[in-house]
Amino acid sequence: MIAIAPSILAADFARLGEQILATERAGANRVHVDVMDGHFVPPITIGPLVVDGIRELVHDADGFLDVHLMIERPERHVEAFAKAGADSITIHVEATPHVHYAVKAIHELGLKAGIALNPATPVDSIVPLAGTVDLVLCMTVNPGWGGQSYIDGSETKVAQLKRVFPQAAVEVDGGIDANTAPRAAHAGARLFVAGSAVFGASDPAGAYRAIAESIAAD
Ligand code: DX5
Ligand code: ZN
Repeated sequence: MIAIAPSILAADFARLGEQILATERAGANRVHVDVMDGHFVPPITIGPLVVDGIRELVHDADGFLDVHLMIERPERHVEAFAKAGADSITIHVEATPHVHYAVKAIHELGLKAGIALNPATPVDSIVPLAGTVDLVLCMTVNPGWGGQSYIDGSETKVAQLKRVFPQAAVEVDGGIDANTAPRAAHAGARLFVAGSAVFGASDPAGAYRAIAESIAAD
């Protein structure tokens, strides 16, 4: 299964519902929510309240809420995001000494669990989690901000992750557009997060379709 998840981080929050609907109509069935706490990464973004605010809109269209926690000690917050309507929660391996516990807690809440790693974090650091997670998120920029350039060579890490986690979906996040998505797809990525390439465009639905077509054409 291949899916592109528009990241609402780049959306116009005054028109959030309308913008999500436009990408849903273009075929998106996955919405990526970037949660930042001002500690793990400098910015503070959104929390469970916003997830709860868009859950109906996303689920009514049979969509999936993909929540990416860039927060310290994520295990303390997974329940709040589950109650708010998250379908999957991805935590960072660098954000807690209790990664295995956090993954187990996410599964016990009935959600899909993901593990994310920063560009400088080696794949070796998550080998003990092989077989326990549903998705592995390979950061293709440093976390914290939208609109950065894709880090060249990230494909090597994507391919490594695919070998170590054959059953998990590899998700790429950061600088994904119609040029970089096919490169990551070629290396084995199946989930593509795109923020500014979608919501920064004058026509988000058209931009979504362009990325989908770039992967299909590869
Ligand atoms: C970055 C976030 C990304 C961000 C990607 O820390 O995890 O999901 O929204 O934004 P773009 O697609 O603009 O690089
Ligand atoms: Zn993200």
